Amino acid sequence: MKRNGRFKGRSIGVVGDLSIDEQRYLYRKARELKAELAAGGNAEDFRIADPDYSAYMIFLENSTRTRESFRNAALFHRVRATMFDAATSSFAKNESLTDAIKMLVGYAPESCFVIRTKLEGVCAWLADYLGPWAERSGYARPSFINAGDGKHEHPTQEFLDEFSFLEQLGWDDGRIHLALLGDLYHGRTVHSKADGLRIFKEVVVDLVAPPELALPAAYIEKMKRNGFEVRTWNSIDEYLASGRTASIWYFTRLQLERMGESVLEKAPALRKAVTFRKDMLDKLRDDTQFYHPLPRDRLAPVIPTFLDDTPLNAWDAQSANGYYTRAVEMAMVAGVLGDDFEGTGLATAKPDEDFIVEAPISVRSKPEYKVGIKPVDSGLVIDHIASGAPVEEIWNRIDKIRRVLGLNLRSSHGVYHTNSGAFKGIVSVPDLLSFGEKELKRLGAVSPGCTLNLVQDHEVVKKYRLGMPPRIYNFDDIACRNENCISHPAHQEHVEASFVRKPGTNTFVCKWCEKEHDYSEIWRVL
Ligand code: CP
Repeated sequence: MKRNGRFKGRSIGVVGDLSIDEQRYLYRKARELKAELAAGGNAEDFRIADPDYSAYMIFLENSTRTRESFRNAALFHRVRATMFDAATSSFAKNESLTDAIKMLVGYAPESCFVIRTKLEGVCAWLADYLGPWAERSGYARPSFINAGDGKHEHPTQEFLDEFSFLEQLGWDDGRIHLALLGDLYHGRTVHSKADGLRIFKEVVVDLVAPPELALPAAYIEKMKRNGFEVRTWNSIDEYLASGRTASIWYFTRLQLERMGESVLEKAPALRKAVTFRKDMLDKLRDDTQFYHPLPRDRLAPVIPTFLDDTPLNAWDAQSANGYYTRAVEMAMVAGVLGDDFEGTGLATAKPDEDFIVEAPISVRSKPEYKVGIKPVDSGLVIDHIASGAPVEEIWNRIDKIRRVLGLNLRSSHGVYHTNSGAFKGIVSVPDLLSFGEKELKRLGAVSPGCTLNLVQDHEVVKKYRLGMPPRIYNFDDIACRNENCISHPAHQEHVEASFVRKPGTNTFVCKWCEKEHDYSEIWRVL
């Protein structure tokens, strides 16, 4: 069968790797596949059916559902399926993941990799690095599907969850009201909801968790930015007392293996706050359904087993839906599906905005130096450093500029009054006249809003006003602070740190793991 659908060679590292219309397409196709198989059809139009197509399942952390649903999906597709785990593969021999996967790409003309690891951002990195490498080397661009990366995301679980919610709501995507309960701090399936729920036109999210397990602020902000109404409670008891509960309750297990000592000590009390009890049953709405990404904790499940054979149990059907949604995801990235897609795809990246603006030189072309700083005859003057900030912050900024730019030269600096009476910093470096775009980018990233004056023969000949650069990369001394990020030097994957600025803010997001950093946090020298 011809395989050149619009998703061919795409990767799914995060939910946002499919546009909202593309996610809706996935759900439509999964619904069609499920109906056809239920009716006894052979679903040939959905199959890759190519013995040369390789599907590698690389599970470096434990998994049952995700791994088995993908393995069965690969069997459905009649492709080569190879399983790896941490115990039996050479990943245990200090081999880098990047090296190992590069080698596997060479074993088949076309491949798809389903990867679970604690390293966050791994699929984004592999797609970015190995995609172009494969094409240069004569292979089809491989696809990378994130089967759960640390605390970051679990997009294929998110897709099966949303599919299950749509099924409960009769495929109506107008409005959803759901509660997220349990370990919202560590639960990556909960984190993915900040994006995945966007397929609904109106979203109300109730967060039910004690403060120690609360959803991280960045995800709450993301939900609000996406137009969701977000409400919070500390326990199920408090939530039920509100009298305004959701029909969809999405529980998650307490991820004790990811908790620090201080939280672990409180685990029994925390679990109690989010564990359902028999006496709560008559306080539920009649249309309530319980969901759980599974596995439940065998000893202390937040959804106790007395609920298994009640109409509240939607988690078994949810789990089974993983087979259909994952079979469709594989069909999409293999190019089997996609010809009948209608809607909006992913937005293409915007070109870099200007962050270095040449400023007019004032009539009084010599920079006005203040008491205690000698005018430079020729050289650089960095002015308006942290203008208007408290004096201590201005001194800190001057110090950071010196460290990040390596200004260990004959020079002077100080804190001075601005014309409006506030304070600003100035660094003056005589004789230094070479200051390229790379240095300008560094200066903008460390001290946005400052100006750089080039002085020659007592005259300012060029003046630049620096904003925050839209991207920061290609520097040896930047690093993501997330120790689980694929780019963190401790993992020896040799992934270059790279940051993208969140539009309209001074926050830089790691290109790989999406951890947010204040602009001053990305420098290793500080
Ligand atoms: N829900 C989920 O990811 O389960 P597994 O860990 O068994 O894959």
